[in-house]
Amino acid sequence: MSLETEPFTAERASADELRAWYELSVTSTAADYPNSPVPPYDSYVQQLCKPTSYLGLQRLWVARDNGGVIGTASAVFPQDENSARAIITVRVSAHNRRRGVGTRLLRAMLPEIHARGCRTIAGQAKAGGDGEKWTQALGFRTVAQRASHHLNIKSVDPTRWQVPPAPGFRIERWADTAPDDLVQSFAQARNAIADSPTGEASYRHPDWTAERVRQYEVRMRETGESHRYVVAIDERSGAVAGFTEIAIVPQERSHCYQEDTAVLPKFRGLGLGRAIKASMMRWLTTDLPRLEQVHTMTTSDNHHMIRVNAQLGYVTDHVVTSVETEVRVLEAHLADLTTQSH
Ligand SMILES: CC(C)(COP(=O)(O)OP(=O)(O)OC[C@H]1O[C@@H](n2cnc3c(N)ncnc32)[C@H](O)[C@@H]1OP(=O)(O)O)[C@@H](O)C(=O)NCCC(=O)NCCS
Repeated sequence: MSLETEPFTAERASADELRAWYELSVTSTAADYPNSPVPPYDSYVQQLCKPTSYLGLQRLWVARDNGGVIGTASAVFPQDENSARAIITVRVSAHNRRRGVGTRLLRAMLPEIHARGCRTIAGQAKAGGDGEKWTQALGFRTVAQRASHHLNIKSVDPTRWQVPPAPGFRIERWADTAPDDLVQSFAQARNAIADSPTGEASYRHPDWTAERVRQYEVRMRETGESHRYVVAIDERSGAVAGFTEIAIVPQERSHCYQEDTAVLPKFRGLGLGRAIKASMMRWLTTDLPRLEQVHTMTTSDNHHMIRVNAQLGYVTDHVVTSVETEVRVLEAHLADLTTQSH
């Protein structure tokens, strides 16, 4: 084996290497998550070539054996509340596993993660899969379990989405840019997501303000995604009482992704969460006839959201384990492994 690992600059990579990277991602994801949507090659590579993902600055590494790509890695560096975290994804092709490739990639990533001042490394892997075992062996701890669900539009009776809001509330909706008269109260409603359980993850929910809503809208436009929002308005105050958000990647017409849903504490228990998500389904199915599936992830102990999703027709796919380790702990662990091998 002639293994080398190095940073990978997608914009300058050859078509063969980009294809190899894509294939590794698609086959590894299909093996662990068979129901997950497969992004088309062009849109995948477009995202790979961008210096920032929707979460933040993105850096890539590659492992080659005799010149052929056998492993890939990315680290994303979020800003603001989460700037002490690096979010990593490491993949090794199935027939090259247990040969130290994943760990070599991690070693290659650490100097940049350290240099950016991150204290924590976060990742996720299929519960019980190779990735979870690998992270356990490296001393990562489990901080949350998240369940992936999807809604198959054709197999759900659309009358499930005929859910009116409680008396005293009306439904409004917009694409991409919140109306000026709602942006302030929308930001406040966004902060209600802070009550959603995140287990023991170090992730910090954003402190939403109208200005941050506008910055987020600009960032999503830059990524090329379209985001749709359905909100419940409290008719007495005219303010947003709850919202739900869907992300649509233009090149991925058959499916879309559920983003945040939250209802302000004083309006919980009135069925607003279900009403706004049902209204979103009516909007999406009317507007996007080629849409087949909606995908979502929910922390396994978020029983309210899971119940709402089940009422709307979502089914569970798989459970994902969120893991974390402190950078210094991982560095010490890898240094120990080096000492042992000498
Ligand atoms: C996770 C992954 C990158 C590991 O790559 P790898 O090159 O096989 O890992 P390594 O060879 O460096 O493994 C190092 C140690 O981790 C442990 N380990 C790794 N995979 C394991 C498995 N399937 N079962 C038990 N232990 C495992 C072992 O202790 C191993 O050392 P050993 O082989 O000497 O016993 C690979 O399995 C993968 O691509 N999985 C799918 C994607 C994923 O889940 N990524 C992790 C989240 S970021």
